[in-house]
This record gives sequence, structure tokens and C-alpha cells, in this order.
Amino acid sequence: MKVVITRHLPNDVTKELVDNFDVVMWGKENEPIPRKQLLEEIKDADGLFTNVADQIDYELLERAPKLKVISTMAVGYDNIDINEARNRGIMVGHTPGVLTEATADLTFALLMAAGRRIVEGMDVIRQNEWNSWGPFFLTGQGIYRKSIGIIGMGRIGLSVARRAKGFQMDILYHNRSHNKEAEEELNATYCELEELLTKADYIVLLAPSTKDTYKMIGKAEFVKMKQTAVFINTSRGTNVDEEALYHALQSGEIFAAGLDVFDQEPIDSEHPLLKLRNVTALPHIGSASIETRIEMARLACENLLNGLKGQPLVHEVK
Ligand code: DGY
Repeated sequence: MKVVITRHLPNDVTKELVDNFDVVMWGKENEPIPRKQLLEEIKDADGLFTNVADQIDYELLERAPKLKVISTMAVGYDNIDINEARNRGIMVGHTPGVLTEATADLTFALLMAAGRRIVEGMDVIRQNEWNSWGPFFLTGQGIYRKSIGIIGMGRIGLSVARRAKGFQMDILYHNRSHNKEAEEELNATYCELEELLTKADYIVLLAPSTKDTYKMIGKAEFVKMKQTAVFINTSRGTNVDEEALYHALQSGEIFAAGLDVFDQEPIDSEHPLLKLRNVTALPHIGSASIETRIEMARLACENLLNGLKGQPLVHEVK
């Protein structure tokens, strides 16, 4: 059987796949396999190892008559046409759980960086603009004992809330359903979205990307936030109306934003959002700790191996 891997991965991670299958692996780690080449390679492939940057859409699936398993090295699978895969009897595996803590760490790092203007401080030094200590020089928003509003209280939301508890923050959350663990362990309070937006000092978006969450935070939502609010997005860029976000940040409707994800990735370096001093932007590295990425790659390999051997995937997208 043939397996296509769309990014270069370390040999020890791919060993079992290489030992068992005919593996075609794209040679570059940080550059996507050209679409044309992927469409060619997929024609006789049984398994596909992919990631958030590949579009696994109707066109690709149509060209893959033998495909049995798609394994993505990610928890999110909005880049995969799940319905189409299901219609064709293709199993889809993903990697939840192993990236929870790394993503929560990065979310909290962004929250602190955006609130306390960390990157701006570095820029000031680099540009030789640090003239003297000033009473209100680079002052930001406090974090200790402030309130955090988490939109999407799943695994990562809960882990972010645990970090917030350490800062004695008041935890509000909005979710499809109540999260008993968050309420009992952390005294988190469930809120309707509107209430969360008006009350929280830090608003953290962790909702998955679905048709219901598409641009769920836009003009009407930013207007409701405090002028001192800090908005963090480590979910998906498509969950936010970026034009409305730009306006809210530029006009002082909110204080700052920390963004790890964008509508178009990679974001164009000339994008208006990147010109704003109150934006802290990162290139989709929520789960990017070395150990986590190794675990994600291993789990994605295991999903693929299991599926191709006719065994249940460790984590199948249902
Ligand atoms: C995911 O897993 O969905 C992240 O966005 C990439 O690590």
C-alpha cells in the first residue's frame, strides 16, 4: 500500500510507516507540497498524512479512488471535507489531547504579551526609542485578579482556565453546554456570549471552526467589549471578522489583541492588522513545543497505521 506524507518528518517517527508501506514523503518541513504534486501522488495512495495547511477537498478526494485513511497532525480538521470523506468511506484521524497543554501555554503567553505590551517593549529597544524610565511608559493591562472570558470550554479552554486560576482571575465561559469540571474545580461561571463580552477583561476565543462559528466575533461583538479588553484568538482565523477587529483595535474600541491564527495563512506581511502596535501576532504555533509536535506526529502515524491495518484509529473524527 502507498502512503503520502505532505511534510518532511523525522525518520524515527515515520519508521513503522516506512517499514510497512511504500512511503512518498515531501522533502521539506516548512514548505507545503505543491498542490499539483499532491494531486498526482494521491491518485494511487491508500493513506494520507496531512496537516492544517493542506486543503483536503472534493477535488483531491475525487482523484483518490484508493484512499482509505486520512490522518491529520492536528486536533482541528476544518481543512478536510469530512462529509465527502465519509461518503467515500474514508476514515479521518486527528490528534486531540496531546496538544492541550502546549496550546494552553501559548494562549496564556499571548494573553500576557498582549496585555502587558511585551513585543512592543522589545520593538522600542530594537528601534532605539527607549529614552528613559517613564511613569506611564508602555503601561498595559494588569492580569492578576482580572476576569477572563473563555469562548469554547473544551479541553484547551479548561487548561487555559486552570492557568488563569493561578493568577486568581475570575473565570467566565461560554460554551455549547455547561462544563461541570470547570464549574466545580475552578468556580467558572457560565455566561451567555453577550454577558461574557461585556464583563471580561480578557476574551479568549477557543471555539472550533464550523459553519456556526464562522465570523462569530465581528463588529457587534467588539462594540460590546470593554475599551480595556484584550482579545486573544488561538482557535481559527475564520472565527473572526478581521476587518471589524482591525477597526476595533485602531479606533481604541478595545485595548489589544493577541493572534495566533488568521483568515488567510500565512498572513501577508503587509496585512493592515500587522501595522497596528496593539497587535501581537504569531504564525499559528499554538501547539509548537518540541515534545508536543513529536507526540502529535507519532499519534498521527499510529492513526494511519491502525487504519491501514484495518484496526480502529486511536482518535477518529466521527
Ligand atoms: C490544531 O491542532 O488544530 C492546531 O491548529 C495546529 O496544531
